[in-house]
Amino acid sequence: MAENLEQTLVLIKPDALKNSLTGYVLSYLSEYHTGLRFAGSKIVHVSKMLAEEHYAEHRGKPFFPSLLEYIRGNIHYPETPQRRRVIAIIYQGEGAVQKIRDIAGPTNPLVARETRPGCIRALGTLAPIKDAQGNIIGERMDNLIHASANAADAERELKLWFKPHDIPTPMHPYEIATCEEHFYYLDGKLTKEYTKGAICILAPGNVAWRTDIDALQTMAAGKSSPLTLETVIAKYLINEYKEHL
Ligand code: RTP
Ligand code: MG
Repeated sequence: MAENLEQTLVLIKPDALKNSLTGYVLSYLSEYHTGLRFAGSKIVHVSKMLAEEHYAEHRGKPFFPSLLEYIRGNIHYPETPQRRRVIAIIYQGEGAVQKIRDIAGPTNPLVARETRPGCIRALGTLAPIKDAQGNIIGERMDNLIHASANAADAERELKLWFKPHDIPTPMHPYEIATCEEHFYYLDGKLTKEYTKGAICILAPGNVAWRTDIDALQTMAAGKSSPLTLETVIAKYLINEYKEHL
């Protein structure tokens, strides 16, 4: 296990994909510039569930609904659902979180241009957020990439987007465990018995993050868990389960 190495989650957001800035971002974050290594990557059509869990800290804020629309690609690809996706990448290495936050720059692209010209988010844009009556109630910040803010967020986010199998074994950053029972998901509920239409999240012999297995066992026993069910299962539905998108 690569416990001593720091990791961070980067999302190349739909505005970066639409503007063909993927190569620019990847060059900027390359090992030559950062000393960091790829530990995992995937192309993800972001479900509502995944978007809500990823940005859970912003739930209830005025810009939250537009933030979900943005990260899900609905803003930049309104007519073409097949293009709605983000590229999720894990970078690993010394100082990973801070190095990538520095290269990304300030959250607000205008501030980024003024204070850190040359940073990635200096190429972003702002868009007004309107209510149902057309009044401007805030600003959407289309800032091209997401980067984890600290080590605790990186762990939460990495486990939200990636399964252990998505990461080369010697690079595994967090403790894993072998599941010894079946867990199914259907209509917002966790079950241990299969019912028609349910998706199998984990089966005996499957390897998962230990914190996920602990949470599923706790929830299946009807007790309250520090993780929500959605936090655990969202990654098992990535690119797999149409009904939940
Ligand atoms: P990120 O999570 O995307 O890497 O960005 P961040 O840490 O720099 O900023 P954070 O506070 O976590 O906000 C997440 C995303 O929400 C949008 N935002 N809009 N209108 C606003 O006041 C506002 N504040 C944040 C941005 O798109 C930001 O990236
Ligand atoms: Mg953030």
